[in-house]
Amino acid sequence: MIVLGIETSCDETAVAVLEGNRILSSIVSSQVDLHAKYGGVVPEIASRSHVERILEVIDIAFAQANVKLNGLDAIAATKGPGLIGALSVGLVSGKALAISQNIPFVGVNHHEAHFFGAFLENDPPELPAVILLVSGGHTMLVFMQEFGKYKLLGQTLNDAAGEAFDKVARYLSLGYPGGPAIERVAQSGDPQRYEFPGPIFKDSFDFSFSGLKTAVIRFCKKMPEAKVEDIAASFQYCVADSLKDVTLRAARHFGVNSVVLAGGVGANTLLRNLLSVSCQKEGLKCYLPSKKNCTDNAAMVAYAGRWHLEQHPGNLMDGAAPNLRLEFEN
Ligand code: KG4
Ligand code: ZN
Repeated sequence: MIVLGIETSCDETAVAVLEGNRILSSIVSSQVDLHAKYGGVVPEIASRSHVERILEVIDIAFAQANVKLNGLDAIAATKGPGLIGALSVGLVSGKALAISQNIPFVGVNHHEAHFFGAFLENDPPELPAVILLVSGGHTMLVFMQEFGKYKLLGQTLNDAAGEAFDKVARYLSLGYPGGPAIERVAQSGDPQRYEFPGPIFKDSFDFSFSGLKTAVIRFCKKMPEAKVEDIAASFQYCVADSLKDVTLRAARHFGVNSVVLAGGVGANTLLRNLLSVSCQKEGLKCYLPSKKNCTDNAAMVAYAGRWHLEQHPGNLMDGAAPNLRLEFEN
């Protein structure tokens, strides 16, 4: 089965062609340059840019995959959560192509698509697993029993992990997106130099990043002589170490052998290292998708779409749902 995936929930125009579990092409056209000077994503600019780029990105994905429009079996596009205008561009494009070929179309939940990121790798996770989804839009710990069956263990009560990276980077004038910027600067800083309040709780699996963000900003105001490198390194260590702690606690608590990392912050090298070392120590298998399968991409959307189409027919009525929530079991 050959599936075209389209992802336009935020600031990446992404299109992929998937055959079975094999990625034939996965193109990501980033709008970062357009939004950087505003220090964050401007929704109107994002929608317009998706409109300008989507057809070309689809063409490139077809060419790289050596697949033609009439060679597709199905189309999937992200339906939410995300920016309503941005989502609409991908959905409308996908539906139009599906109608033209009379093939099924399905809208996909962006968070669920991130869970599937690790399954695009050659060594897909064994289930059940605890998944740490850390992105710019959300942060959650999920118990995945099988495809489509998720239990929410904990989530952020305010900012997402990526949002904290972005806001702290913005305050430190390091540029946008903040995660990679902080990671770069932190390389020459001392991660133990300063201690910030961790974004997790002892008695739950929830997260709170806004207190940490405020603490870092307050600290910068009080200590203008502190080195940016040390602040970035200490902040990054605080986030990564806490995320590692809570994920391992959840894995132990729910007795799983697999830990899966997902979402854009999953591209962070320190987080990847801390997770993998700790999992190894505890005899757990740690699944770290390649960085391109952690950050927003359309291959994960195609994969999730295909799985849904195996369960039920497509739905051309799937519309943009900016606040879409994933269905969790109790
Ligand atoms: O999953 P993603 O690509 O888009 C959303 O669904 O939100 O995640 C984007 C977020 C941004 O906040 C970005 O700063 C963060 O992921 N990010 C990183 C790194 N690369 C991207 N955070 C920390 N370290 C990185 N290397
Ligand atoms: Zn994402």
